[in-house]
Amino acid sequence: MNIEQDLVAALEPIRQMTLAICVNHFFETGVYRKLEAGECDLDTLSRSLDLERARLGGLLGYLRNENIVSHDKGVYALTDKARLLGRYSAWYTMLVGGYTETFVQVGECLKGQGKWATRDVGKVGIGSCGISHYDAIPLTQRLMAKMDTPARTLLDLGCGNAMYLVEFCKTMPQLRAYGVEPSRDACLSAERIIAAEGLSDRIKVINKSVRDFLEGKEDLKPDVMVLGFVLHEILGQEGKAGVIDFLKTVTARYPAINLIVIEVDNQAANPTIMEHGLAKAYYNPYYLIHEFTEQRLMTDAWWQSLYEEAGLKIVNHDYPDEAVDSTRLEIGYLLKRRG
Ligand SMILES: C[S@@+](CC[C@H](N)C(=O)[O-])C[C@H]1O[C@@H](n2cnc3c(N)ncnc32)[C@H](O)[C@@H]1O
Repeated sequence: MNIEQDLVAALEPIRQMTLAICVNHFFETGVYRKLEAGECDLDTLSRSLDLERARLGGLLGYLRNENIVSHDKGVYALTDKARLLGRYSAWYTMLVGGYTETFVQVGECLKGQGKWATRDVGKVGIGSCGISHYDAIPLTQRLMAKMDTPARTLLDLGCGNAMYLVEFCKTMPQLRAYGVEPSRDACLSAERIIAAEGLSDRIKVINKSVRDFLEGKEDLKPDVMVLGFVLHEILGQEGKAGVIDFLKTVTARYPAINLIVIEVDNQAANPTIMEHGLAKAYYNPYYLIHEFTEQRLMTDAWWQSLYEEAGLKIVNHDYPDEAVDSTRLEIGYLLKRRG
């Protein structure tokens, strides 16, 4: 038996855990962005980002050993591996920035008493929007094309950093958009992005939960409402009766509304689909997180029967582009009030 070989294999998850967390720091501290703009020495990097020089040197040395940066004649640069990770940094923002504290609390929460693990909701919302750029936003746009009226006023409930709204307003010049989001951090990030895109006159973000928003007096007349990965949050907070009541309240207030819901089909117990590469890399940790935080993922069949109970009909349903996600675990529904 070769103990050293076994040990290397046994420690691989620890190596990957350290790497995932450090890559996320690499993104969050701005070091990645700075090196993306051009190679740089340690003094310039630490001064321009206001980071402690010796410790930054330690992090960069670690990343060099993992082939994330190169270090030549005192100058650091991104490697191809770093650029690949950089394209998918939103997954790090959500799963590492948003949920590392959740993973750490799993053992404590297993002991019961119904204790929920915490998460960084702002980073979850921001990361989720970045992921949606690849999957849920194009899917929502395809569903919008199936609506009975052209979209003029869009309301995005649980809008995160408002990336949906920005992307839609950029491609649809006639559109005005409103977002509702309870996380203050995500709202601040939304305001920065909207201003940077010069869209402050067309997009407004309201810092409220959907319930407070619906109970308020906001006089909007949306023709389309988007709920991207939000119904399972409301399900965790208010239970099934709460979601049905919420959907009925929405359609009573806006009877002609086109409702676009994006949800993830809970197939964690389906061994065939869970062998898929993206299911192992993304959906398996994603399903785990939802067992321990105050949100509940359900199956496609369960959601379909809930829509029925809430007086809604499914006008259309669709999946993300196969080239991005071929699992069909993410589903978009275009819904309307029956009758
Ligand atoms: C997984 S993120 C989805 C963000 C974005 N809609 C997307 O599709 O990428 C869930 C969002 O719902 C928000 N949220 C949670 N509970 C909510 C509630 N009761 N009312 C409104 N938004 C809520 C969270 O703050 C978070 O931004």
